[in-house]
Amino acid sequence: MKTVCIKEILEKGTIGTSVIVRGWVRTKRGGKPVWFIDLNDGSTINNIQIVADPLRFDAELFGNITTGACVFISGELIASQGGGQSVEVEAQKIEVYGLASSDYPLQPKRHSLEFLREKAHLRPRTATFSAILRIRHSLSFAIHKFYNDKGFFYLHTPIITGSDCEGAGEMFRVTTMDMNNLPKNEDGSINYKEDFFGKETNLTVSGQLEGELGAMALGKIYTFGPTFRSENSNTARHLAEFWMIEPEVAFFELEDNMDLAEEFLQYLVKYALEHCKDDLDFLDKRNADEEKMKKKEDQAEMGLLERLNFVISNRFERLTYTEAIEILKKSKPFQKKQFKFPVEWGVDLQSEHERYLVEKEFKKPVILTNYPTAIKSFYMKQNDDGTVRAMDVLIPGIGEIIGGSQREDNYEKLKNRALEVGIDQESIWWYLETRKFGTAPHSGFGLGFERLVMFVTGMSNIRDVIPFPRTPKNAEF
Ligand code: 4AD
Ligand code: MG
Repeated sequence: MKTVCIKEILEKGTIGTSVIVRGWVRTKRGGKPVWFIDLNDGSTINNIQIVADPLRFDAELFGNITTGACVFISGELIASQGGGQSVEVEAQKIEVYGLASSDYPLQPKRHSLEFLREKAHLRPRTATFSAILRIRHSLSFAIHKFYNDKGFFYLHTPIITGSDCEGAGEMFRVTTMDMNNLPKNEDGSINYKEDFFGKETNLTVSGQLEGELGAMALGKIYTFGPTFRSENSNTARHLAEFWMIEPEVAFFELEDNMDLAEEFLQYLVKYALEHCKDDLDFLDKRNADEEKMKKKEDQAEMGLLERLNFVISNRFERLTYTEAIEILKKSKPFQKKQFKFPVEWGVDLQSEHERYLVEKEFKKPVILTNYPTAIKSFYMKQNDDGTVRAMDVLIPGIGEIIGGSQREDNYEKLKNRALEVGIDQESIWWYLETRKFGTAPHSGFGLGFERLVMFVTGMSNIRDVIPFPRTPKNAEF
């Protein structure tokens, strides 16, 4: 008999056939006349119900089938007696693969997300986290499908680099040197020539610089890999290790870049709605329950599914940074001094400003462009009015989800800007050379994968959309 997953049995099982199911016990009820076991194997949010006649089994066995235990069951697929599901399994043979001792922390009740973060080794077994992880998988697949269908090539950019793409200095050092006995130069500084790579290296903050090299050869590329930032911001939207998707396209101007970003996001949301229906229905209900517990004025105007459907059926609002500043200055929270951070041309927007624009002013995703040169990265194409051809995509509930730009393709301008912001020319000589050898207009952006998963699942803390989050003082699992 072939073992099939519970998803397949629930969807396509034929009544009267023999089946084998294996999985982890979610709940067990019953007693004398009949036992009921709800079993889940991770293939779907839905459990399969097992019914067992106590007369056929040892009483001791029943005691061993507790929440969290792993069991093997063979039996016959029968029509379900209760509501809920169409089929259930009448057990003929039950075997316990692994008992769950009485201190199994995931009991069949609602646990707080904070509690579950401490149990990250087990939380994928809960309905909420398994739903999130299945959606995370589907979105990853959809990302590759989207770009493959469009003729982009998946480029593997390095994880260990000697450069700092964003120039923010938020890097994790990579070294094999003995920390207690560092080789020194005569002036007392550390001699990195002695290190593994013969130079200073770190974990990458972005695959963009190498991505651009790929685009200058293959035309259309994307990267999809882990990136690392040691920014010490302990917020609900930042991780020290997160995944980023970075398309880079030769001959794209900023407008093409915006079109691609909008199409990409809408495609991914639509893909999830079409392929993750059960999981999203579950999360939609969960989201609604959470909202009900909030104060009226803090409740979101739309439910999760409503919000996702809204995003795929409305064009994103496009405006410049300068226009955004004007809107913010006229806004109620600004007039009433409710913003914590200043609103002033030249100063970077904070999450509170971004969320005001998206959630209060436009009530839909917004693409902001042409930011002041001083607050953006060195590689962005310069306009002649003190701004650069940058774009940030902002979405409800999250704020910034995408950051990108048209790239500076002029060798002198790029070199001078790198110099101005103090970027070590030697570490990016190869990047600068692309502007000497057949330079071309080109553009790209980076989508923060976990912020996307937050948006699609409605989860409000980024630690809950990645299996094993890395945040300041936290790398346990
Ligand atoms: O805006 P960022 O810093 O842009 C870049 O890294 C560019 N090199 C991308 C490019 O043009 N190819 O980061 C891009 C996105 C952000 O919009 C955000 O969604 C996400 O990456 N992000 C983070 N996500 C989680 N934790 C963090 N610490 C993040 N920092 C950025
Ligand atoms: Mg950014």
